[in-house]
Amino acid sequence: MTLEQAKEKLAQYGQEHVLKYYEELSQEERQTLLDQIEATDMSILEACRHRDDLARKGVITPLAAMQLKEIEENRESFTETGLAAIRAGRVGAVLLAGGMGTRLGSDDPKGMYNVGITRELYIFECLIRNLMDVVRQADTWIHLSVMTSDKNHEAPTRFLKEKEYFGYRPEYVHFFRQEMAAATDYEGKIYLEEKGKLSTSPNGNGGWFVSMKNSGLLTVVHDAGIEWLNVFAVDNVLQRIADPCFVGATIQKDCAVGAKVVRKNAPDEKVGVICLEDGRPSIVEYYELTDELMNAKDANGDPAYYFGVILNYLFRVPDLEKMAAGNMPLHIVEKKIPCLDGQGNPVKPQEPNGYKFENLVLDMIHQLDSCLPFEVERDREFAPIKNKTGIDSVESARALLRKNGVEL
Ligand code: UTP
Repeated sequence: MTLEQAKEKLAQYGQEHVLKYYEELSQEERQTLLDQIEATDMSILEACRHRDDLARKGVITPLAAMQLKEIEENRESFTETGLAAIRAGRVGAVLLAGGMGTRLGSDDPKGMYNVGITRELYIFECLIRNLMDVVRQADTWIHLSVMTSDKNHEAPTRFLKEKEYFGYRPEYVHFFRQEMAAATDYEGKIYLEEKGKLSTSPNGNGGWFVSMKNSGLLTVVHDAGIEWLNVFAVDNVLQRIADPCFVGATIQKDCAVGAKVVRKNAPDEKVGVICLEDGRPSIVEYYELTDELMNAKDANGDPAYYFGVILNYLFRVPDLEKMAAGNMPLHIVEKKIPCLDGQGNPVKPQEPNGYKFENLVLDMIHQLDSCLPFEVERDREFAPIKNKTGIDSVESARALLRKNGVEL
């Protein structure tokens, strides 16, 4: 893109300020900036103006979960069905590790965080060990794709290689990068991260399948005959991945998607709850949950919206391919965005200072006809690490790891 073309595009979206330092840049830096301007989707920035409309929900009604008792009664049969699918190579796993982990505040990507105390025990290691349990049980390897972002690609790929994938077979580990989106101030003006570089941020965890497709990884999916993808977050060190019982239950119930859920520990716990929205499966985020929904009861007198999602979903590949052809809703999230101050010096803000634009995996659920919320015991499968201390932290996860017999 030429300077003239860049000026035209920027004028269209009111973003001319990003050329403020253009004259100070070297020839190479100028070209890099022009290329970035060309590649950036600026139409999404308009979304700042109708932020409230984006958050609007339809009519919310309860969606019953398959609870522990029913799962126990059918465990053998579900597990058999799940193992058969895994042994036939029909199940793959996708680790979402493209997030910035700003709340944890570690300089390294989250998966490289050491939760051990007397020995090294990395988050990636915990997850791979959990998956290895199924590899052993099924006596077959499972393709594991890892999503990274431009901000954290080299470090985790190098780290996992150095650690020899914690015993996982390298041919079964694949990496792909998610796309980036521009980050702005509260007026929707793109920040500069450097004089010749727009501030960008990973575009949320909802773009994972499109990014997987763009990276060419669907060849692996198709060649291996994978029909189901179990997508999961990097931060839950206890989660079971490609869990045969969960896979089997979703298949037997003929659902388009399976979602692992936990019983909330308090009505206002900060997890999204599974529900129906205008008759289709959906998730209401904790900050969208009204008092009325929080206190609603179902026909048995139990809380109607009491099952929280833990970002562990089982999707069917043909559905994902259909969804990839359409558009996903946009979420505008307040974040701390590294930027330049008025004098052109880089700053790392301590408080949120603007917006990033994300697609979220939970919106994929709403595009599907049926969903199986599958309850798991929270003390055995839910130990998220979002913060350093307090709720959902390194401390709470360590306590839960110990409770499950993991030596720290
Ligand atoms: P979170 O919502 O916890 O976001 O991600 P985060 O960026 O990791 O952490 P904070 O909010 O800055 O503290 C939930 C899961 O989605 C992945 C994360 O890596 C994590 O596994 N994720 C999130 C992505 O893969 N890409 C993204 O753009 C955002």
